[in-house]
Amino acid sequence: MKKIAGLFFMGLVIALHSYSQFGRLSPADSLRRDSMNRMTQQDYKQMLAELNITTVRPGANGNNPNAPNAANYDESKANPYPNLPDPLMLKNGQKITTAKMWWDKRRPEIVEDFDREIYGRMPKNTPKVKWEVTKDTMEMNGDVKVHTKKLVGHVDNSSYPSINVNIDLTLSVPANATGPVPVVMEFGFVFPPGFRVPGPPRDTTKPAPPQPPSWQQQVLAKGWGYAILVPGSIQADNGAGLTQGIIGLVNKGQPRKPDDWGSLRAWAWGADRAMDYFEIDKAIDARKVAIEGHSRYGKAALVTLAYNPRFATAFVSSSGEGGAKLHRRNAGEIVENVAGSGEYHWMAGNFIKYAGPLNWGDMPVDSHELIAMCAPRPVFISGGSKGDGWVDTRGMFMAAAAAGPVYKLLGKKDMGTAEYPPIGTTLIDGDIGYRQHEDGHTPVPNWPTFIEFAGKYFK
Ligand code: GCU
Repeated sequence: MKKIAGLFFMGLVIALHSYSQFGRLSPADSLRRDSMNRMTQQDYKQMLAELNITTVRPGANGNNPNAPNAANYDESKANPYPNLPDPLMLKNGQKITTAKMWWDKRRPEIVEDFDREIYGRMPKNTPKVKWEVTKDTMEMNGDVKVHTKKLVGHVDNSSYPSINVNIDLTLSVPANATGPVPVVMEFGFVFPPGFRVPGPPRDTTKPAPPQPPSWQQQVLAKGWGYAILVPGSIQADNGAGLTQGIIGLVNKGQPRKPDDWGSLRAWAWGADRAMDYFEIDKAIDARKVAIEGHSRYGKAALVTLAYNPRFATAFVSSSGEGGAKLHRRNAGEIVENVAGSGEYHWMAGNFIKYAGPLNWGDMPVDSHELIAMCAPRPVFISGGSKGDGWVDTRGMFMAAAAAGPVYKLLGKKDMGTAEYPPIGTTLIDGDIGYRQHEDGHTPVPNWPTFIEFAGKYFK
């Protein structure tokens, strides 16, 4: 059953990718796409010029194993920079031995490096958001009655009225709850109108096959609520959109500076605004809010937990490069891919420097320190196996292990091992959880494990 769900999700993601990339577009949509691509290229070139970069190294080719730049899956070649920055040593060489030193000295150093070089700085002042409930309904999800609110977060655009940002959020809580409930919020993929998963039509003469419980239904079974946040309503998922959305609004329509925030931090900012709403909604226990995301949104989920202390935990699914995977690893997707024109908008402009002239080993920080920024709060790192090589699940495991000393310093438990375990091993006894499931690029098989992990804290 799990397998079917996994395959279904994979099918959905692949279908969506092909729909958006190669599907039949109307002439108007294809014009729009071409002009967006042009704007992305223009913004990217402008950023390269600003950084004085003339050439960047190409990304790994994940499609053709015979290409000269084919993605590497050979573990003996995966660690060209085996030495990671020490999360417990100050830049001046001093060892961090107390929690106070971590909070006062070392963590701020790490945050500054991630801000400047990796994800970009969130502006000091961001506009206020006014939440409006646009629809309030009782509905059934499976056999559970839920109270669902559609919400719009109107972002104050008085500083630059030609850019409108309206955050799209949906929240559902069990209707029979007797008190405030924990919530799991997902960065949701949005499928285009009329989108249908390709495949053989269902035989409607037979009853529909039973469906495994969705993640929302699994969450409801615990008595928790769930929410879906739409990332694209906060910030577009392309370079062309960087002069719009919340990033464009704060920059008054001007292009980014090299250390300005990228989409990942903008999405995380939106999640934190949703948290503002959860804090005032009496149906929610805002101290027990988890954030979940898959793939690019897995990166966003980790960035959200790392930067926003009000979130209690995160399910970080197949986040790969730019997420939990060590940047120093040569396995599957590499820095150069994320630094390319299709993905650079997730990051700070400065990140591109590490695809030329600098190297991965020149980064002042690595992803184990992003995980360490979440400490002491629990975090669950998840990846798949066959078909999910691109995300380098081993590289994510290594980062999770290397964050352990920080958790321990803060009186918490690390993952319990630094030895890469067999597929399907569940490591949730510590405060850093990890599991590589048996399927491909999907969060589905690890939902029960995450819910069990979060359940230890959401009592
Ligand atoms: C691409 C990209 C990944 C990303 C993924 C996704 O594969 O290289 O970094 O996570 O898309 O979000 O679907």
